[in-house]
Amino acid sequence: MTKIVIDKVRHKYRPARGKPVLALEDVSLEVRDKEFLALLGPSGCGKSTLLYLMGGFLPVESGTISIDGKPIAGPGPDRGVVFQHFALFPWKTVRQNVLYGLERQGLAREKREAVAKKFIDLVGLSGFEDNYPSQLSGGMKQRAAIARTLAVDPSVLLMDEPFGALDAQTRALMQSELLGIWRASPKTVVFVTHDVQEAVYLAGRVVVMSARPGRVKAIIDTNFDKTAPDVLRSAKFGDMVDQIWGLVKEEAIKAQMGRGT
Ligand SMILES: Nc1ncnc2c1ncn2[C@@H]1O[C@H](COP(=O)(O)OP(=O)(O)O)[C@@H](O)[C@H]1O
Ligand SMILES: [Mg+2]
Repeated sequence: MTKIVIDKVRHKYRPARGKPVLALEDVSLEVRDKEFLALLGPSGCGKSTLLYLMGGFLPVESGTISIDGKPIAGPGPDRGVVFQHFALFPWKTVRQNVLYGLERQGLAREKREAVAKKFIDLVGLSGFEDNYPSQLSGGMKQRAAIARTLAVDPSVLLMDEPFGALDAQTRALMQSELLGIWRASPKTVVFVTHDVQEAVYLAGRVVVMSARPGRVKAIIDTNFDKTAPDVLRSAKFGDMVDQIWGLVKEEAIKAQMGRGT
């Protein structure tokens, strides 16, 4: 089943100062219901732009994007977003941050509290409910942001390099926790990263984008059993990373050369 259909999308930024930038050109892609899809590509290839278009934060000016058969018209509670820089309210505690999204859903107070608790537990933050973001580590902030997004139960999760700002250890931990959460309650996830290992580990399909203007260069099936504890060191995993890295590298080189001209 198809969840999101992206059809011939082109996006040009027209900054008030400076030249227009063609960020995306003729992007067509189908995201399946409840799949974990990674978008991979060199910096500046339009990954965030594509995610913002799906989120409804940027208008689709050329081509179409539809979710469940309906063209998107602005952001909606059906799509939850998690960005690289944790967008928590600094003046609210973890619990208040998670409750925030639930307040608009019209649930009774007790129910809201129960849902917030469930998701705070799920991301391993129980005991920190009353902490403010300034009292949390980077990894904990990102967990809180994920809990807040998951609590409203969006059918689509849009994540833009959510672990990019974390140290390697925290990042590895968060990756396996996210996979655990997704396996326990699958949703349609579009996960932007420039890290090939991360893409192969998390996603069932990896979309490699070309250097700007971004296009779909290749779609690779990475859906094999990754539950073994040493999967990251397996030959199959390594081969897949090498193959995809080859594709990304070509584009990264093009992006570099483009900058030089
Ligand atoms: N608001 C903007 N105005 C002008 N150009 C932009 C704007 N946002 C992004 N761009 C440009 O569009 C291209 C794609 O950006 P982006 O989607 O952020 O790429 P990525 O997320 O893959 O690094 C880049 O060249 C970037 O500089
Ligand atoms: Mg980006």
